[in-house]
Amino acid sequence: MEQRFVAKNALPLKDSFTTRWQAPSNIALVKYWGKTAPQLPKNASLSFTLSNAVTQTQVEFAPLENPSKSVSFTILFEGEEKPSFRPKLETFFANILPYQPFLTHYQLAITSQNTFPHSSGIASSASSMAALAACLVDLEAQLSSLTEENKINKISFLARLGSGSACRSTQGPLMAWGTHTAIANASDLWAVPVSDIHPVFTDYCDTILLIDKGQKKVSSTLGHKLMHQHPYAEQRFAKANAHLSELLPILQQGNFEAFISIVEKEALHLHAMMMTSDPYFILMQPNTLSVINNIWAFRKETSIPVCFTLDAGANVHVLYPNEFDAQLKQFIEGELLQYCENRQCVHDKVGTGIKKY
Ligand code: PMV
Repeated sequence: MEQRFVAKNALPLKDSFTTRWQAPSNIALVKYWGKTAPQLPKNASLSFTLSNAVTQTQVEFAPLENPSKSVSFTILFEGEEKPSFRPKLETFFANILPYQPFLTHYQLAITSQNTFPHSSGIASSASSMAALAACLVDLEAQLSSLTEENKINKISFLARLGSGSACRSTQGPLMAWGTHTAIANASDLWAVPVSDIHPVFTDYCDTILLIDKGQKKVSSTLGHKLMHQHPYAEQRFAKANAHLSELLPILQQGNFEAFISIVEKEALHLHAMMMTSDPYFILMQPNTLSVINNIWAFRKETSIPVCFTLDAGANVHVLYPNEFDAQLKQFIEGELLQYCENRQCVHDKVGTGIKKY
Protein backbone atom coordinates (compact mmCIF):
# COMPACT_ATOMS: atom_id res chain seq x y z
CA MET A 1 0.00 0.00 0.00
CA GLU A 2 1.52 3.28 -1.12
CA GLN A 3 0.55 5.66 1.71
CA ARG A 4 1.63 8.74 -0.25
CA PHE A 5 -1.17 8.14 -2.79
CA VAL A 6 -3.99 7.67 -0.28
CA ALA A 7 -6.41 10.59 -0.52
CA LYS A 8 -6.96 11.85 3.02
CA ASN A 9 -9.57 14.22 4.41
CA ALA A 10 -11.28 14.44 1.03
CA LEU A 11 -14.82 15.46 1.91
CA PRO A 12 -17.43 14.61 -0.73
CA LEU A 13 -18.95 17.39 -2.82
CA LYS A 14 -22.58 18.40 -2.41
CA ASP A 15 -23.21 18.97 -6.11
CA SER A 16 -22.49 16.93 -9.21
CA PHE A 17 -19.13 17.36 -10.91
CA THR A 18 -18.46 16.55 -14.57
CA THR A 19 -15.05 16.31 -16.21
CA ARG A 20 -13.72 15.23 -19.63
CA TRP A 21 -10.21 14.01 -20.40
CA GLN A 22 -8.58 12.43 -23.39
CA ALA A 23 -5.55 10.16 -23.34
CA PRO A 24 -3.51 8.72 -26.19
CA SER A 25 -2.24 5.23 -26.82
CA ASN A 26 1.52 4.64 -26.59
CA ILE A 27 3.98 2.38 -28.36
CA ALA A 28 6.82 0.79 -26.42
CA LEU A 29 10.35 0.96 -27.83
CA VAL A 30 11.62 -1.17 -24.94
CA LYS A 31 8.88 -3.61 -24.03
CA TYR A 32 7.29 -4.48 -20.70
CA TRP A 33 6.46 -8.19 -20.65
CA GLY A 34 6.33 -9.86 -17.25
CA LYS A 35 5.07 -8.43 -13.96
CA THR A 36 4.45 -9.10 -10.29
CA ALA A 37 1.42 -8.04 -8.24
CA PRO A 38 0.19 -5.33 -8.04
CA GLN A 39 1.06 -4.53 -11.65
CA LEU A 40 4.79 -3.99 -11.00
CA PRO A 41 7.04 -4.47 -14.04
CA LYS A 42 9.87 -7.02 -14.12
CA ASN A 43 11.94 -4.64 -16.25
CA ALA A 44 11.93 -0.96 -17.15
CA SER A 45 10.22 0.08 -20.38
CA LEU A 46 10.33 3.12 -22.63
CA SER A 47 7.62 4.35 -25.00
CA PHE A 48 6.61 7.03 -27.45
CA THR A 49 3.32 8.63 -26.49
CA LEU A 50 1.05 8.89 -29.54
CA SER A 51 -1.36 11.69 -30.43
CA ASN A 52 -4.14 10.63 -32.83
CA ALA A 53 -5.16 7.27 -31.36
CA VAL A 54 -6.95 8.60 -28.26
CA THR A 55 -9.76 7.70 -25.88
CA GLN A 56 -12.06 10.52 -24.77
CA THR A 57 -13.81 9.95 -21.46
CA GLN A 58 -16.38 11.97 -19.59
CA VAL A 59 -17.31 11.16 -16.00
CA GLU A 60 -20.23 12.70 -14.17
CA PHE A 61 -19.92 12.26 -10.41
CA ALA A 62 -23.32 12.55 -8.70
CA PRO A 63 -23.20 12.60 -4.86
CA LEU A 64 -25.06 9.68 -3.20
CA GLU A 65 -27.13 10.13 -0.06
CA ASN A 66 -25.70 6.97 1.42
CA PRO A 67 -22.23 5.78 0.43
CA SER A 68 -22.09 2.39 -1.31
CA LYS A 69 -19.64 -0.42 -0.49
CA SER A 70 -17.96 -0.48 -3.87
CA VAL A 71 -17.85 2.10 -6.66
CA SER A 72 -21.26 2.52 -8.37
CA PHE A 73 -20.94 3.26 -12.06
CA THR A 74 -22.58 3.05 -15.46
CA ILE A 75 -20.54 2.76 -18.65
CA LEU A 76 -21.56 3.93 -22.10
CA PHE A 77 -19.02 3.28 -24.85
CA GLU A 78 -19.60 4.97 -28.21
CA GLY A 79 -23.26 5.40 -27.33
CA GLU A 80 -23.86 1.80 -26.22
CA GLU A 81 -24.02 0.13 -22.83
CA LYS A 82 -21.14 -2.31 -22.51
CA PRO A 83 -21.73 -5.03 -19.92
CA SER A 84 -18.55 -6.73 -21.21
CA PHE A 85 -16.48 -3.75 -19.95
CA ARG A 86 -17.80 -4.06 -16.39
CA PRO A 87 -15.56 -6.84 -14.97
CA LYS A 88 -12.33 -5.02 -15.91
CA LEU A 89 -13.68 -1.74 -14.51
CA GLU A 90 -14.92 -3.42 -11.33
CA THR A 91 -11.45 -4.87 -10.74
CA PHE A 92 -9.90 -1.49 -11.48
CA PHE A 93 -12.17 0.31 -9.01
CA ALA A 94 -11.56 -2.32 -6.33
CA ASN A 95 -7.81 -1.83 -6.80
CA ILE A 96 -7.91 1.95 -6.59
CA LEU A 97 -10.54 2.33 -3.86
CA PRO A 98 -7.94 2.28 -1.04
CA TYR A 99 -6.35 5.30 -2.75
CA GLN A 100 -9.60 7.15 -3.45
CA PRO A 101 -12.01 6.05 -0.69
CA PHE A 102 -14.25 9.07 -1.40
CA LEU A 103 -15.44 7.38 -4.63
CA THR A 104 -18.06 5.38 -2.71
CA HIS A 105 -19.90 8.68 -2.10
CA TYR A 106 -20.73 9.09 -5.80
CA GLN A 107 -22.61 7.51 -8.64
CA LEU A 108 -20.27 7.63 -11.67
CA ALA A 109 -21.70 7.97 -15.19
CA ILE A 110 -18.82 7.11 -17.52
CA THR A 111 -19.13 7.92 -21.24
CA SER A 112 -16.25 7.01 -23.48
CA GLN A 113 -15.20 6.85 -27.13
CA ASN A 114 -12.09 6.09 -29.18
CA THR A 115 -10.88 8.12 -32.15
CA PHE A 116 -9.38 5.01 -33.78
CA PRO A 117 -11.48 2.46 -35.69
CA HIS A 118 -13.71 -0.05 -33.89
CA SER A 119 -12.00 -3.32 -32.90
CA SER A 120 -8.89 -2.33 -34.82
CA GLY A 121 -6.59 -4.48 -32.71
CA ILE A 122 -5.03 -1.23 -31.44
CA ALA A 123 -4.77 -1.71 -27.70
CA SER A 124 -7.23 0.71 -26.16
CA SER A 125 -6.62 -0.29 -22.55
CA ALA A 126 -3.70 2.16 -22.22
CA SER A 127 -5.62 5.17 -23.54
CA SER A 128 -8.89 4.29 -21.79
CA MET A 129 -7.35 3.66 -18.36
CA ALA A 130 -5.24 6.83 -18.55
CA ALA A 131 -8.28 8.94 -19.57
CA LEU A 132 -10.41 7.49 -16.75
CA ALA A 133 -7.62 7.96 -14.19
CA ALA A 134 -7.31 11.62 -15.27
CA CYS A 135 -11.05 12.14 -14.60
CA LEU A 136 -10.78 10.49 -11.16
CA VAL A 137 -7.79 12.59 -10.13
CA ASP A 138 -9.55 15.71 -11.38
CA LEU A 139 -12.35 14.99 -8.90
CA GLU A 140 -9.78 14.39 -6.16
CA ALA A 141 -8.21 17.77 -6.94
CA GLN A 142 -11.60 19.40 -6.26
CA LEU A 143 -11.70 17.74 -2.83
CA SER A 144 -8.17 18.12 -1.54
CA SER A 145 -5.07 20.07 -2.44
CA LEU A 146 -2.80 18.38 -4.96
CA THR A 147 0.27 19.92 -6.59
CA GLU A 148 0.60 19.56 -10.38
CA GLU A 149 3.36 17.00 -9.82
CA ASN A 150 1.24 15.01 -7.36
CA LYS A 151 -1.63 15.11 -9.81
CA ILE A 152 0.23 13.80 -12.85
CA ASN A 153 2.02 11.11 -10.84
CA LYS A 154 -1.22 9.99 -9.26
CA ILE A 155 -2.93 9.75 -12.66
CA SER A 156 -0.08 7.55 -13.87
CA PHE A 157 -0.15 5.53 -10.61
CA LEU A 158 -3.91 4.85 -10.87
CA ALA A 159 -3.76 4.15 -14.62
CA ARG A 160 -1.05 1.55 -13.93
CA LEU A 161 -3.41 -0.32 -11.63
CA GLY A 162 -5.87 -0.58 -14.56
CA SER A 163 -3.38 -1.61 -17.23
CA GLY A 164 0.40 -1.52 -16.74
CA SER A 165 1.35 0.25 -19.96
CA ALA A 166 -1.40 2.86 -19.39
CA CYS A 167 0.84 4.63 -16.87
CA ARG A 168 3.06 5.73 -19.80
CA SER A 169 0.23 7.55 -21.64
CA THR A 170 0.05 10.53 -19.27
CA GLN A 171 2.85 12.70 -20.69
CA GLY A 172 5.17 12.63 -23.70
CA PRO A 173 6.85 12.42 -26.08
CA LEU A 174 9.02 9.77 -24.40
CA MET A 175 8.07 7.99 -21.17
CA ALA A 176 9.93 5.58 -18.90
CA TRP A 177 8.34 3.22 -16.43
CA GLY A 178 10.22 0.99 -14.00
CA THR A 179 13.24 1.57 -11.82
CA HIS A 180 16.43 1.76 -13.82
CA THR A 181 19.97 2.81 -12.95
CA ALA A 182 20.15 5.23 -15.92
CA ILE A 183 16.99 7.19 -14.99
CA ALA A 184 17.31 8.71 -11.54
CA ASN A 185 13.63 9.50 -10.98
CA ALA A 186 12.19 6.35 -12.59
CA SER A 187 9.76 4.30 -10.53
CA ASP A 188 7.90 0.98 -10.72
CA LEU A 189 4.79 2.79 -9.45
CA TRP A 190 4.30 5.43 -12.12
CA ALA A 191 5.91 6.59 -15.38
CA VAL A 192 8.07 9.68 -15.87
CA PRO A 193 8.95 11.72 -18.97
CA VAL A 194 12.47 11.43 -20.38
CA SER A 195 13.27 14.93 -21.54
CA ASP A 196 16.77 14.77 -22.95
CA ILE A 197 15.96 13.71 -26.52
CA HIS A 198 17.01 14.88 -29.97
CA PRO A 199 14.39 17.06 -31.74
CA VAL A 200 13.96 14.45 -34.53
CA PHE A 201 12.26 12.20 -32.01
CA THR A 202 9.78 14.84 -30.84
CA ASP A 203 7.72 14.64 -34.04
CA TYR A 204 8.49 11.06 -35.04
CA CYS A 205 5.80 9.32 -37.10
CA ASP A 206 4.10 6.00 -36.37
CA THR A 207 1.78 4.52 -38.98
CA ILE A 208 -0.13 1.61 -37.46
CA LEU A 209 -0.91 -1.06 -40.06
CA LEU A 210 -4.06 -2.94 -39.15
CA ILE A 211 -3.08 -6.46 -40.18
CA ASP A 212 -5.65 -8.27 -38.07
CA LYS A 213 -8.52 -6.43 -36.47
CA GLY A 214 -9.90 -9.45 -34.63
CA GLN A 215 -9.78 -10.22 -30.94
CA LYS A 216 -6.31 -11.36 -29.84
CA LYS A 217 -6.06 -15.11 -29.38
CA VAL A 218 -3.94 -14.78 -26.26
CA SER A 219 -4.45 -11.83 -23.91
CA SER A 220 -1.58 -9.72 -22.55
CA THR A 221 -2.69 -10.78 -19.08
CA LEU A 222 -1.94 -14.41 -19.91
CA GLY A 223 1.25 -13.48 -21.77
CA HIS A 224 2.59 -11.64 -18.69
CA LYS A 225 1.70 -14.65 -16.52
CA LEU A 226 3.59 -17.06 -18.75
CA MET A 227 6.79 -15.12 -18.01
CA HIS A 228 6.70 -16.55 -14.46
CA GLN A 229 7.72 -20.03 -15.62
CA HIS A 230 9.56 -18.90 -18.71
CA PRO A 231 12.97 -20.51 -19.42
CA TYR A 232 14.42 -17.20 -20.70
CA ALA A 233 12.66 -14.80 -18.32
CA GLU A 234 15.71 -13.60 -16.38
CA GLN A 235 17.78 -13.10 -19.55
CA ARG A 236 14.89 -11.19 -21.12
CA PHE A 237 14.45 -8.82 -18.15
CA ALA A 238 18.19 -8.13 -18.06
CA LYS A 239 18.31 -7.61 -21.85
CA ALA A 240 15.39 -5.16 -21.79
CA ASN A 241 17.12 -3.10 -19.10
CA ALA A 242 20.36 -3.19 -21.12
CA HIS A 243 18.51 -2.09 -24.27
CA LEU A 244 17.08 0.84 -22.33
CA SER A 245 20.57 1.89 -21.20
CA GLU A 246 21.79 1.72 -24.79
CA LEU A 247 18.80 3.55 -26.21
CA LEU A 248 18.97 6.65 -23.98
CA PRO A 249 22.17 8.13 -25.51
CA ILE A 250 20.95 7.11 -28.98
CA LEU A 251 17.75 9.09 -28.43
CA GLN A 252 19.83 12.07 -27.30
CA GLN A 253 22.12 11.96 -30.32
CA GLY A 254 19.50 11.20 -32.96
CA ASN A 255 21.39 8.14 -34.20
CA PHE A 256 18.87 6.44 -36.51
CA GLU A 257 20.88 3.34 -37.30
CA ALA A 258 21.40 2.45 -33.67
CA PHE A 259 17.78 3.37 -32.86
CA ILE A 260 16.46 0.99 -35.54
CA SER A 261 18.64 -1.88 -34.39
CA ILE A 262 17.40 -1.74 -30.78
CA VAL A 263 13.75 -1.05 -31.59
CA GLU A 264 13.46 -3.95 -34.04
CA LYS A 265 15.33 -6.30 -31.68
CA GLU A 266 12.92 -5.37 -28.88
CA ALA A 267 9.89 -6.19 -31.04
CA LEU A 268 11.31 -9.56 -32.03
CA HIS A 269 12.47 -10.39 -28.48
CA LEU A 270 8.91 -9.75 -27.25
CA HIS A 271 7.48 -12.14 -29.83
CA ALA A 272 10.29 -14.64 -29.19
CA MET A 273 9.09 -14.75 -25.57
CA MET A 274 5.61 -15.65 -26.78
CA MET A 275 6.94 -18.35 -29.09
CA THR A 276 9.02 -19.90 -26.30
CA SER A 277 6.39 -19.76 -23.50
CA ASP A 278 4.76 -22.93 -22.27
CA PRO A 279 2.16 -23.11 -23.73
CA TYR A 280 3.68 -21.35 -26.77
CA PHE A 281 1.78 -19.05 -29.07
CA ILE A 282 2.31 -16.85 -32.13
CA LEU A 283 0.56 -13.51 -32.54
CA MET A 284 2.30 -12.50 -35.77
CA GLN A 285 0.54 -13.44 -39.01
CA PRO A 286 1.94 -14.14 -42.47
CA ASN A 287 1.13 -10.53 -43.42
CA THR A 288 3.09 -9.25 -40.40
CA LEU A 289 6.19 -10.95 -41.83
CA SER A 290 5.48 -9.72 -45.37
CA VAL A 291 5.33 -6.15 -44.06
CA ILE A 292 8.58 -6.57 -42.11
CA ASN A 293 10.36 -7.94 -45.19
CA ASN A 294 9.03 -5.07 -47.31
CA ILE A 295 10.22 -2.50 -44.78
CA TRP A 296 13.69 -4.07 -44.76
CA ALA A 297 13.86 -4.07 -48.58
CA PHE A 298 12.65 -0.45 -48.81
CA ARG A 299 15.17 0.68 -46.17
CA LYS A 300 18.01 -1.05 -48.02
CA GLU A 301 16.98 0.44 -51.36
CA THR A 302 16.32 4.02 -50.21
CA SER A 303 18.48 4.38 -47.05
CA ILE A 304 15.45 6.01 -45.41
CA PRO A 305 15.63 5.21 -41.66
CA VAL A 306 12.27 3.51 -41.34
CA CYS A 307 11.76 0.60 -38.96
CA PHE A 308 9.02 -1.49 -37.42
CA THR A 309 7.87 -2.39 -33.97
CA LEU A 310 5.11 -4.67 -32.71
CA ASP A 311 2.99 -4.80 -29.61
CA ALA A 312 1.17 -7.90 -28.40
CA GLY A 313 -0.61 -8.56 -31.69
CA ALA A 314 -0.23 -8.90 -35.45
CA ASN A 315 -0.39 -5.18 -36.29
CA VAL A 316 2.81 -3.44 -37.33
CA HIS A 317 3.88 0.03 -36.18
CA VAL A 318 5.96 1.70 -38.90
CA LEU A 319 8.27 4.28 -37.30
CA TYR A 320 10.01 7.02 -39.32
CA PRO A 321 11.27 10.61 -38.99
CA ASN A 322 8.80 13.31 -39.99
CA GLU A 323 11.06 14.60 -42.80
CA PHE A 324 10.36 11.37 -44.76
CA ASP A 325 6.61 11.62 -44.34
CA ALA A 326 5.80 12.02 -48.06
CA GLN A 327 8.01 9.10 -49.21
CA LEU A 328 6.66 6.86 -46.45
CA LYS A 329 3.01 7.63 -47.17
CA GLN A 330 3.66 6.71 -50.81
CA PHE A 331 5.47 3.48 -49.85
CA ILE A 332 2.77 2.51 -47.35
CA GLU A 333 -0.01 3.22 -49.83
CA GLY A 334 1.74 1.45 -52.69
CA GLU A 335 3.34 -1.53 -50.95
CA LEU A 336 2.07 -2.12 -47.42
CA LEU A 337 -1.68 -1.50 -47.36
CA GLN A 338 -2.27 -4.65 -49.42
CA TYR A 339 -1.31 -6.63 -46.28
CA CYS A 340 -3.83 -4.78 -44.05
CA GLU A 341 -7.40 -5.78 -43.35
CA ASN A 342 -9.55 -3.62 -45.66
CA ARG A 343 -6.33 -1.67 -46.49
CA GLN A 344 -6.70 0.11 -43.13
CA CYS A 345 -4.03 1.99 -41.22
CA VAL A 346 -3.84 4.83 -38.70
CA HIS A 347 -1.31 7.60 -39.32
CA ASP A 348 -0.10 8.74 -35.94
CA LYS A 349 2.69 10.81 -34.47
CA VAL A 350 4.51 11.25 -31.21
CA GLY A 351 2.48 13.43 -28.80
CA THR A 352 2.34 14.96 -25.35
CA GLY A 353 -0.15 12.93 -23.31
CA ILE A 354 -3.44 13.56 -21.53
CA LYS A 355 -5.47 16.71 -21.87
CA LYS A 356 -8.89 18.12 -21.06
CA TYR A 357 -11.21 18.29 -24.03
O1 PMV B 1 -0.22 -3.02 -20.32
P1 PMV B 1 -0.49 -4.40 -20.77
O2 PMV B 1 -0.71 -5.33 -19.63
O3 PMV B 1 -1.56 -4.45 -21.83
O4 PMV B 1 0.84 -4.95 -21.50
C1 PMV B 1 1.38 -4.32 -22.61
C2 PMV B 1 2.50 -5.07 -23.15
C3 PMV B 1 3.09 -4.58 -24.47
O5 PMV B 1 2.21 -3.71 -25.15
C4 PMV B 1 3.32 -5.80 -25.36
C5 PMV B 1 4.43 -3.92 -24.26
C6 PMV B 1 4.43 -2.53 -23.67
O6 PMV B 1 5.40 -2.22 -22.98
O7 PMV B 1 3.51 -1.75 -23.95
